[in-house]
Amino acid sequence: MASRDEDVSVTMETRVLPVDSQHPAPEAIAQAAQLIRAGEVVAFPTETVYGLGADAWRAEAVQRIFEAKERPAHDPLIVHLADVTWLPQVAAHVPPVAHELAARFWPGPLTLVLPRGERIPDVVTAGGETVAMRVPAHPVALALLGAAEAPIAAPSANRFGHVSPTRAEHVLADLDGRIPLILDGGPTPVGVESTVLSLVTPTPTILRPGGVSREALLAVLGEVAVRERPISPDETIPSPGTLDQHYAPRANVRFYTGPRAVVLPALRAAAFELEEQGEHVGLLIAEEDRAALAGAPGVVQTLGAQGDVTTIARQLFAALRALDAAGVSVILARDFGSAGLGLAVRDRLTRAAGGDVIRVA
Ligand code: TXA
Ligand code: MG
Repeated sequence: MASRDEDVSVTMETRVLPVDSQHPAPEAIAQAAQLIRAGEVVAFPTETVYGLGADAWRAEAVQRIFEAKERPAHDPLIVHLADVTWLPQVAAHVPPVAHELAARFWPGPLTLVLPRGERIPDVVTAGGETVAMRVPAHPVALALLGAAEAPIAAPSANRFGHVSPTRAEHVLADLDGRIPLILDGGPTPVGVESTVLSLVTPTPTILRPGGVSREALLAVLGEVAVRERPISPDETIPSPGTLDQHYAPRANVRFYTGPRAVVLPALRAAAFELEEQGEHVGLLIAEEDRAALAGAPGVVQTLGAQGDVTTIARQLFAALRALDAAGVSVILARDFGSAGLGLAVRDRLTRAAGGDVIRVA
């Protein structure tokens, strides 16, 4: 517990309170809402990943999130809403397209970036003129938002730069002793974070691919830009979650892209070579890849069938944490394409690799 860290903020007892993910007990929700209303932080499940929430109207409460996560102040937070009727209280101006998107995707893993309403404190937006918001599709999150009677600012409930938590035990591993309460609603169903879509750019722009696919947005919008390249730390930061070296496990990640028939032999050769050099290899692959890699050294983590990117996305972060726990020093991961949630998986693996992407052809 507190011994892991010399930080003085690692002092409190962190309670883990189990809740039914579909029908959370009102008493458990009331305890969490009470903490939020008292200006404290609480970790809770959403459909994407666990969030670390505080009352979005109160700067000193939101400040606690940054302290617990050791998150730099220049990284703005997502404001979670109980329903779409809160939108005009948080955003200064709500264009018709925001209502269309909300009607189609909320509750759900789509975050909209809009001009900031005046009641939102600076600490939420990192001083910027826009604010990000979404209505989460998780009964526990929605019950908490209803009971707290306030919008809840919440980033993912991990230490800054680390892999986002998809289970309560991941939150505990990162934030034990730093927060008073974790609502444990079991594993999160989507497994990657929400899609962050800016509506303040001339063309709606995906700042971070996530749980709502580009294809699904295109069907509503007709035109969507994707910001392709992660920006570097010294540029202006429209969405700092897009920095390289985000979502990173302890092990070094090497991310292989290219045709499967070439990628798998490359993974195999790399595994042998690295183990010979004294590295301990982890392989992050699809179920179908097992046979091709049979006999290769290393710890294997399969994410799902290779065409099933929804399952792959759901398993991704837990698998990265499991490989860390297994003590591997290098993770060799393969690409699963850009269709559907594949784009979000590719994005997170690219960042976990810190840009160390190996293209084979
Ligand atoms: O699924 C999710 O989005 C989860 C759950 C808890 O809702 N939350 C999450 O929050 O992933 P966080 O803070 O880890 O990531 C939020 C992302 C960051 O990349 C941040 O830079 C970006 O959203 N963001 C927040 N406010 C923004 C704004 N006003 N303009 C542009 N990007 C913004
Ligand atoms: Mg995060």
